[in-house]
Amino acid sequence: MRHLMSPLDFTTDELDRLFDLANDIENNKSKYAHACDGLKLATCFYEPSTRTRLSFESAMLSLGGSVLGFSDAASSSAAKGESVSDTIRMISCYADICAMRHPKEGAPMVASTHSRIPVINAGDGGHQHPTQTLTDLLTIRSLKGRLSNFTIGLCGDLKFGRTVHSLINALSRYDNITFIFVSPEELKIPEYITDMLKEKDIPYEETISLEEVMPKLDLLYMTRVQRERFFNEEDYVRLKDFYILNKEKMALAKEDMLVLHPLPRVNEISVEVDDDERAVYFKQVQYGVYVRMALILTLLGIDTSKL
Ligand code: CP
Repeated sequence: MRHLMSPLDFTTDELDRLFDLANDIENNKSKYAHACDGLKLATCFYEPSTRTRLSFESAMLSLGGSVLGFSDAASSSAAKGESVSDTIRMISCYADICAMRHPKEGAPMVASTHSRIPVINAGDGGHQHPTQTLTDLLTIRSLKGRLSNFTIGLCGDLKFGRTVHSLINALSRYDNITFIFVSPEELKIPEYITDMLKEKDIPYEETISLEEVMPKLDLLYMTRVQRERFFNEEDYVRLKDFYILNKEKMALAKEDMLVLHPLPRVNEISVEVDDDERAVYFKQVQYGVYVRMALILTLLGIDTSKL
């Protein structure tokens, strides 16, 4: 039995197979419509979510399976003090696979060690968000045709943004990637990540100016400032509108640069950018469903060659 805690849990060859499967699902939806008949997905979300929870549910329903779960810790027995390890023991009796989001870093990992079913980390605190990373990689591979030879800018809250941490880990395994980290001083990328890049001899630069680096970028990954991870509201209010991507800034970018965002967006991308062909964050959401379908099939060990 396999779980997914980090994008590094899959080799790059396994990721290629997963993305091939996701692209096949995109092009042949009816072939997969009964692949999970009789199987159940549990979504255990101790933190708010729109995309991740609903895309998992949409993915399982599109595979012919069923879904159950909770979307708020307050409506589960966590509110009475039940531990994550006890909860997953129950869920193992009710479902065949579980996607779990939790505000505490490592909680899905703890769950996986007590589980009889595959557990997928759907976001743990400021740590990792592997299925968002699978979504990001599939989007890039599908729209650019490759996962190597890029300069990628990551902009916004690089300190607390778990999607950023997961994506850097994942991209660090591909050839010729240069990272440009764009953030205010208070929201800089954590040192353990820059240490990892130094160790692997992967080039990166850090800057406060988005305008200055725009012309160099092949990909721009925008992120919101993570209000829920701040200790005081004053700091959040001071930093929340530090970067706003607008038409003027887009005019500085390459014609084929892509703008990604894990969403939700707050103010960091002006709605006027949505009509720009290079803005692919809503396409990204659709890829998130295909890749979660592929992931469910893979972790459940379903032989897709027989479909
Ligand atoms: N991208 C993402 O994780 O969105 P949700 O918080 O809405 O799931």
